Amino acid sequence: MGEQVAIVGAGISGLIACKYCLSKGFKPLVFESQSCIGGAWTKTFETTKLQTPKSLYQFSDFPWPSSLTEEFPDQHHVLDYVQSYAHHFDLVKHIKFDSKVVSIEFEGSSDDEMQSWSLWNGNGLPFSPQGKWKVMVEDLQNNSTEVYQVDFVILCVGRFSGVPNIPEFPPSKGPEAFHGEVIHSMDYAAMDYESAAKFVKGKRVTVVGFQKSALDIAKECSAANGVTIPCTILYKTEHWNVPDYLPWGLPMAFLYLNRFSELLLHKPGEGILLSLLATLLSPLRWGISKFVETYIKKKHPLAKYGMIPKHSFLQDISSCLVSTVPEKFYEKVEKGSIILKKFQSFSFCEEGILINGETAPQKTDLVILATGFRGDEKLKDIFVSQTFQDCIGGSPDGTLPLYREIIHPQIPQLAVIGFSEGLSNLYTSEMRCRWLVELLDGTFKLPAIKDMEKDMAKWE
Ligand SMILES: Cc1cc2nc3c(=O)[nH]c(=O)nc-3n(C[C@H](O)[C@H](O)[C@H](O)COP(=O)(O)OP(=O)(O)OC[C@H]3O[C@@H](n4cnc5c(N)ncnc54)[C@H](O)[C@@H]3O)c2cc1C
Ligand SMILES: NC(=O)c1ccc[n+]([C@@H]2O[C@H](COP(=O)([O-])OP(=O)(O)OC[C@H]3O[C@@H](n4cnc5c(N)ncnc54)[C@H](OP(=O)(O)O)[C@@H]3O)[C@@H](O)[C@H]2O)c1
Repeated sequence: MGEQVAIVGAGISGLIACKYCLSKGFKPLVFESQSCIGGAWTKTFETTKLQTPKSLYQFSDFPWPSSLTEEFPDQHHVLDYVQSYAHHFDLVKHIKFDSKVVSIEFEGSSDDEMQSWSLWNGNGLPFSPQGKWKVMVEDLQNNSTEVYQVDFVILCVGRFSGVPNIPEFPPSKGPEAFHGEVIHSMDYAAMDYESAAKFVKGKRVTVVGFQKSALDIAKECSAANGVTIPCTILYKTEHWNVPDYLPWGLPMAFLYLNRFSELLLHKPGEGILLSLLATLLSPLRWGISKFVETYIKKKHPLAKYGMIPKHSFLQDISSCLVSTVPEKFYEKVEKGSIILKKFQSFSFCEEGILINGETAPQKTDLVILATGFRGDEKLKDIFVSQTFQDCIGGSPDGTLPLYREIIHPQIPQLAVIGFSEGLSNLYTSEMRCRWLVELLDGTFKLPAIKDMEKDMAKWE
């Protein structure tokens, strides 16, 4: 007992990992490159609010303050809540701020040895006396580097920050061909609110993407420039983005987030009975999806703007691809301060953007790529070992090959938290941390590597 666990990142995932490690008697050492806790919530757009109802974005042992009545608190309230959690459980003293982990290197077994293992870490256990991680940490205050040796590493570096997902273009058809400015949503988020509003003011802005960042930024641009200089949203896929979580007055959780709704879906490893039940219930599954779709179509004029998705709501919610549409968004579309434009392909030219091979450009001064993040790249780059880098990277959609979305079967004495798909990322991080500390504590052992890989393939 008392093994040293390095936790990289002090966002929600890192804080929860720290709390649960302490509860089992481990010694957590949290490295955070920023000078404060909270990760994604420390700096974002002015209009950002929690889009998950707060009752679903809540630590299981630390409720939101009862004085806060909003169901969707703004970013400042979320940050206060996360900070209160850290103080309540006395986590801050375990965090080293301004400390960026530049690399981690496993010592104890060679690549050949590890490849011959049939059990994770050679013995199926989270620790071994000879296996240690060497953690290289850069102190950003005084530019010095320190090396730490630890028994286990938990990577909580965040999926939606740091490394932007930038679309690829043929040579001389990318941003370099454009005479205006191109930034990513994270650059916009990094500006203070006044500077962001000034930055877009008077500019013809094109926002690329149709998920939460794109919708919020477009709304902010339309507030700055109105109908005289509309903001264009350039999107590839329509999504069933929701006005709220109360379709026809029924909480969405009644429809999708309960034990009965689990029975509606086929799952890997289900027995004959569950499979039969899911098949028999498929009309209900379809009906619930249509029920929500009709509500969204009633609230938002999707048909008028050619925005009805080709796929079902069920598909979007099952892939966690549902965002909330900012209030009065479609009013702005109706009035003309936001223009929606679909693309199959686009490229840059001097004056703006060429869409779908058209010769006349969409004239633009500023392009904001709200095209998401490559958290997988951030994770991959932290490993010194090329073998481990290859284990993590490579999937075109950035999904990670993790058992229970936590453990890579080929990477010993290490876990990843905060990279799973979920509608409430706080909840999924907490459940995974609870599972992880039981593993560290020896409550259970992992299956053989090939069984973990089979299980992962089934859930893909
Ligand atoms: C604007 C915005 C709004 C969101 N709204 C919601 C929402 O409503 N509901 C929801 O469920 N999810 C939401 N999310 C998703 C959000 O990412 C998660 O809810 C959650 O905050 C993620 O926490 P995390 O700790 O996993 O990652 P992060 O919050 O990204 O924290 C990662 C931390 O790791 C640190 N770090 C990274 N690399 C290193 C390194 N090498 N060395 C040291 N430190 C490092 C970073 O500085 C950061 O503090 C939102 C995300 C964004 C960006
Ligand atoms: N609570 C809030 O208010 C709030 C605010 C901002 C962000 N967030 C959260 O932060 C996370 C990240 O959100 P995000 O909106 O930044 O990213 P995202 O959800 O990953 O969405 C990326 C968008 O970019 C598009 N895209 C991706 N690659 C592209 C390419 N090569 N060319 C053109 N378009 C491309 C995607 O289109 P396709 O769908 O067609 O692939 C999608 O519309 C999410 O969890 C989100 O919920 C929350």
